[in-house]
Amino acid sequence: MLIDTHCHISDEDYENKEEIIKHMEDNIMIVSTASPKDIKEVIELCETHKNIYGTIGIHPEFADAYTTEDLNNIEKYIKHPKIVGIGEIGLDYHYTKENKEKQKELFIKQIKLANKYKKTIVIHSRDAIEDTYNIIEKYKAKDTKCNMHCFSGSLEMAERFIKLGVTLGIGGVLTFKNEKKLKEIVTTLDIHNFVLETDSPYLTPEPLRGTKNEPANVKYVAAKISQLKGIDYAKTLEITTQTAIQQFDLKL
Ligand code: NI
Repeated sequence: MLIDTHCHISDEDYENKEEIIKHMEDNIMIVSTASPKDIKEVIELCETHKNIYGTIGIHPEFADAYTTEDLNNIEKYIKHPKIVGIGEIGLDYHYTKENKEKQKELFIKQIKLANKYKKTIVIHSRDAIEDTYNIIEKYKAKDTKCNMHCFSGSLEMAERFIKLGVTLGIGGVLTFKNEKKLKEIVTTLDIHNFVLETDSPYLTPEPLRGTKNEPANVKYVAAKISQLKGIDYAKTLEITTQTAIQQFDLKL
């Protein structure tokens, strides 16, 4: 069994949403929200599909636009049994550096919700890894689980996050021909620190680059990890699936 721990499957992303979901029969998807307006659709997916779980949260790109009602909505739906985390939340200085303080404030507010409701934090961090680290170190409660989606930092940063109990989401970038940093991380660190993801519909892995990504492509990520670590494919699935189950407290 495979678990895609981070994907987006909305009507906006796919015309053939149900078909895409069917490709993941017998596997599991954790659908992430970025925009507050997506929360209802994720809840609906969770309620209509046995193998779909969700995380809800406000992405840093909405740091200027979100409302108190959006945050209240998260607090309301976080208690749903199939909502297994708060995400994706974090910092994105690639998108804009203009509102760093607002981004941090929104990030911290949502970390506090994760602490309060004992849900896993799913981090989005782009060009902001030091600030992300400092906030997680300071505000994440010791027993709050945390996953860094689509990890893109250095080996040294990976080790520092792991020391805080954070797991690294590994996606299609690992299969890119010119990608070196992530390959070094996967080769060097213990496989138990990794969970699989696609970030569909983005970041399509090799050999399918240029097409729209979908959760079923998570198998290419698993195959690459298996190859780089010299661990057989079935064992790679077994370990990463077990880590994901623990990371998100999935009740299968
Ligand atoms: Ni995402």
